[in-house]
Amino acid sequence: MKPTVLSAVQPTEGLHLGNYLGAIRNWIAYQEDHDCLFFVVDLHAITVRQDPKVLRSNIERAVATYLACGLDPRKSTLFAQSMVPEILELSWVLTCHSSMGELARMTQFKDKSSKQGENIPTGLFVYPVLMAADILAFRTSLVPVGDDQKQHVELTRDLAERMNNAYGKDLFIVPKPMLGTTGRRVFNLLEPENKMSKSDPTGLGVVFLSDDDKTIEKKFKRAVTDSGTSINPEALSQGLKNLIEIQAAIQNTSLETLASRYAGKQYGVLKVETAQVVIEHLRPIRDKTDALLQDRAALHQILREGAEKARERASAQVKEVYKRIGFVGRS
Ligand code: TYM
Repeated sequence: MKPTVLSAVQPTEGLHLGNYLGAIRNWIAYQEDHDCLFFVVDLHAITVRQDPKVLRSNIERAVATYLACGLDPRKSTLFAQSMVPEILELSWVLTCHSSMGELARMTQFKDKSSKQGENIPTGLFVYPVLMAADILAFRTSLVPVGDDQKQHVELTRDLAERMNNAYGKDLFIVPKPMLGTTGRRVFNLLEPENKMSKSDPTGLGVVFLSDDDKTIEKKFKRAVTDSGTSINPEALSQGLKNLIEIQAAIQNTSLETLASRYAGKQYGVLKVETAQVVIEHLRPIRDKTDALLQDRAALHQILREGAEKARERASAQVKEVYKRIGFVGRS
């Protein structure tokens, strides 16, 4: 049996370069020799309020982007999270085996909740448990994610081990996070101390996969570096390091190799060349995404077929969990 690989992205505000370099790009190779499930986590998206029309179109765009990046529904199971209700059943069971203390320690919860004022949505708090359910419902071994999701996969491991200790060792597979060598944390171009994130209110420091060539060029030209002018590979500011790392990730080379190639060159050269590398790389993905969005019915069909396969697998896992915890009736 091939090991199972599973990962997902939230369909909010469109996908960005961080999602691509930190996650999606690394998924493609697994398709050849692993059992793969990749999906769009629409249930996660509603942890913050969404406009229904915008959400629907973001889900469709996310699926089209997956396909445009090279995910193949004949090789991988593709679906939307809300189409597999078994995930929610497992999520409740896991919620009852998690503690408020461990969820309150999640860095992402602390960051996101600090921006919400008095009214912190409960969904934001329990979101990592839903993610654990996503992973554990499918007997997943490997979870390719960016750096910021590593802590959630660690929590998933803790929950799996806790459940295995309580109800039998083989109940869940304990999954491992898989991080890429480059691009595991892409930073905001205007605030290089913060990760590139969909929740940036202006979007000016975020390169969206749907941005046109001119917009991408402009965003890189405005990228924040430091007060110097020429590149010293021994003393790279966070902004410069981010630009070099983005380029290195796309060219499959290391930060060090690329930094030494830029030694002594002007910051402007790095910005323009990085923009060019990104533009050339993203253009075919964007064009293909737009073409796929012309046939939304075909996208829905791919999701339905994927969800059917996913449900079959998740329901077997939920059935086993229900039986072991003592429920009657699902056999
Ligand atoms: P999300 O939608 O925030 O991000 C999706 C993926 O993109 C990675 N990522 C980044 N990588 C590098 N640099 C960045 N600036 C950057 N921003 C995001 C994330 O690490 C992630 O891999 N809860 C998850 C989605 C999820 C999931 C799952 C993932 C739900 N269930 C099960 C794996 C398995 C999330 O909100 O990711």
